[in-house]
Amino acid sequence: MEMERRSPDVLILGGGLMGLAIAWELAEQGARVQVLGRNLQEAAGRAAAGMLAPEAEGLPPGPFLELALASRQMYGNWVAKLEALTGESVDYWPCGILKPVCGNSPVEDMGPGQSLRPEVEILQPGLGPGVVAAHWYPQDGQVDNRRLVAALDQGCRLRGVALQTGEAHRLVVEDDRVVAVETSAGRMEADQIVLTAGAWCRTLLNIPVFPRKGQMLALRPPQGVSGLGRVVFGRAYLVPRRDGRLVIGATSEDVGFTPGLTPAGLGYLLQEAQWLYPALADWTVEECWWGYRPTTPDELPILGPSPYENLVLATGHYRNGVLLAPITAQLIAEGLVRRRPHPQLAAFRWNRFSAPAP
Ligand code: GLY
Repeated sequence: MEMERRSPDVLILGGGLMGLAIAWELAEQGARVQVLGRNLQEAAGRAAAGMLAPEAEGLPPGPFLELALASRQMYGNWVAKLEALTGESVDYWPCGILKPVCGNSPVEDMGPGQSLRPEVEILQPGLGPGVVAAHWYPQDGQVDNRRLVAALDQGCRLRGVALQTGEAHRLVVEDDRVVAVETSAGRMEADQIVLTAGAWCRTLLNIPVFPRKGQMLALRPPQGVSGLGRVVFGRAYLVPRRDGRLVIGATSEDVGFTPGLTPAGLGYLLQEAQWLYPALADWTVEECWWGYRPTTPDELPILGPSPYENLVLATGHYRNGVLLAPITAQLIAEGLVRRRPHPQLAAFRWNRFSAPAP
């Protein structure tokens, strides 16, 4: 199919992982791109642990799992291209994910991919005695999402994307077009606009995206103690970075944008983490933080067209934004360049939540 040759003039509202990934992809294709973002510490792409876990997350079969598996498949090449451009490593690590059987799940019900204790011990020594068996997902993995956001920022700059700090206040609509955006940096206009403001999208558009808060922490092992070699995904998850730092997540709380850390939240994570890997009880707490996952009523993303002809949506990635960044960027950019939504995004349309006609 013939590609549309004209470079779109695109304004991206949201400077997090998704906004930067789309901006970089568009800029690589020669588009003129501007990003307006607030550099929020609580943005999901920065707050995340960076798991690439379509299998460990147990995503439902169908278009969403297909999208997620395709994105996992893209990851190695995608980050290699970004690293080659920027000279920065993002620590992509297809280390596999072990998912212990927790609670009272009978071992015989585990199905394919199961490993019993001796095999689990080989894959990851030192797990707690309660871990009698685990599922093993060798193709799942992780990336250092903070490094990824920083590298995307750098990649965007190197490709000429205009990165502007500011807050979008209001979409100015005439007929079925967004003719301008009122922002803290003044009035902005663009041929095409992408809304990728994560859990904050609703301040601009009435779509059902709401925050689901996650509290997180990171530990550092004592000098000379090696960290884990796999992600371990129980009721809490343990994500080891290559330098030994261990990221532990995450709570899942429907508390709106309530900021802060709680004893209950951190207590839960620490208790579950010690159940999974008792040796970490003596490690140093290095950092604690929280963030807001952009969630939708069916927990699937909203991707593609919007109520307005020149506004495209890329939000609601919930627990899987880091994983879905490459494919979201590719398909959204392709839709913008061709000026036609990508058919693979049909299952994620914004108006799927409307009540059916009587
Ligand atoms: N992706 C894991 C989480 O959102 O907690």
